[in-house]
Amino acid sequence: MPDYKLVIDGGRELRGEAYVSGGKNTSLAVVPAALLADGPCIIENLPAIEDIRVLYRILKYLGAKVDWHPEQKQMAIDPGGVTALTVPYAYSQRMRASYYMMGALLGRYGRAEVGYPGGCDLGSRPIDQHLKGFKALGATIRDENGMLVLEGKLKGAHVNFDMVTVGGTINVMLAAARAEGDSILTNCAREPHIVDTANFLNRIGARIRGAGTDTIRIRGTGRMDGGNYTVIPDQIETGTLMIAAAATRGDVVLRGCIPTHMEALTAKLLEMGVMVTSQDDVITVNLRQGHRAIRISTQEYPGFPTDLQQPMSALLTKALGTSEVIENIFESRFKHLDEMRKMGAISIINGRLAHIEGVPELHGAPVWAPDLRGGAALVIAGLMAQGITEVYNPGTIARGYDHLESKLTDLGARISRAPLDPEENGNANGL
Ligand code: EPZ
Repeated sequence: MPDYKLVIDGGRELRGEAYVSGGKNTSLAVVPAALLADGPCIIENLPAIEDIRVLYRILKYLGAKVDWHPEQKQMAIDPGGVTALTVPYAYSQRMRASYYMMGALLGRYGRAEVGYPGGCDLGSRPIDQHLKGFKALGATIRDENGMLVLEGKLKGAHVNFDMVTVGGTINVMLAAARAEGDSILTNCAREPHIVDTANFLNRIGARIRGAGTDTIRIRGTGRMDGGNYTVIPDQIETGTLMIAAAATRGDVVLRGCIPTHMEALTAKLLEMGVMVTSQDDVITVNLRQGHRAIRISTQEYPGFPTDLQQPMSALLTKALGTSEVIENIFESRFKHLDEMRKMGAISIINGRLAHIEGVPELHGAPVWAPDLRGGAALVIAGLMAQGITEVYNPGTIARGYDHLESKLTDLGARISRAPLDPEENGNANGL
């Protein structure tokens, strides 16, 4: 539990330039994927976030030689020294992406013992499709005292996912990369970080085609030499900063991003009356007047990303009219709306459907960050609100955003960390 809270003095427009960091969700797949190599890998543009620190500690625990330089955004990984094939629950429960250790260790060493993954509480988040893929490749899987034990010399297979799953697509791709023979994965997710992970794997010696479409073909290989790779910019950080610019009636230039990854969000912002332009790796966002209410329905890529539903809902709290938000991916991703009500927002939640009625102003209040993107949404609401907002449980934001506070401060926000009073620190169950 972090011993600080965020304090935001809201009502200021964001103005200026910011650089987008490397992608969290792509990095959380590429770093474990390096275990598949027979030689060293150097990964560049890694975000300096808590989840990467957890991965670093897991790799060290396994015996890999790892040098991580967060400020240089670089990690060198040599799996040559790996002796353990176990990821204890103490590590795996820290984040959902620990599940990638299953595909990487099983694919490279024929065995993996991994505690069940943790991560944001967005409802039940089973991994049945991951396990279905591993079994199709020939692995046996058993649950030993809460640890999943996966074993087998993998052979290429056809895996058709019952539903579109980002993690399942990547995890089975990791396992199949060194299987004997060819695999074909169908009904795959198409997110940019799936393409990035496949590009990394091909760079170090894999033979993968079709990533970014719903069908991925993999020719298993007996050897992967390793190599260097730079991960793509963070699609969700880009979107979060775009939304924050609009929410504060600001004028912000984002550099180092990939505009084509942002098309679903850009379309919705334009529909609301926000000015969005882009050229090469630069996106500019500004808003002068009121913004219209809209309807958002989250979908797998290239649809509107579920990870931007929560930040977007902050912008919707002051829209002209009532917006409708349908969360199709996760069972429970509206907890942040309960917190925003303390700031004067008006919303009604009915299962996966929320209606947000625009109000003229928000006022500052103490709020609790329920999860990573809900926390980011509350920061945006604090930037919009008149007065002081205190965001408790900010560690959940630091898990997935690289220096978010300093990026916002550089854009003119008044946001800082303040120590918790002793009685506040004992407040483990929200406010
Ligand atoms: C990844 O989660 C991301 N996390 C999530 O980002 C993101 O919201 C999600 O993809 C969708 O884009 C990482 O990449 C580490 P899924 P993941 O498998 O892999 C169900 C963030 O804020 N499902 O596509 O868990 C599942 O319960 C995080 O950065 C099964 O039922 O997403 C969910 O309802 C939050 N069985 C839906 O599918 C399975 O075997 C989509 O899950 C797998 C998934």
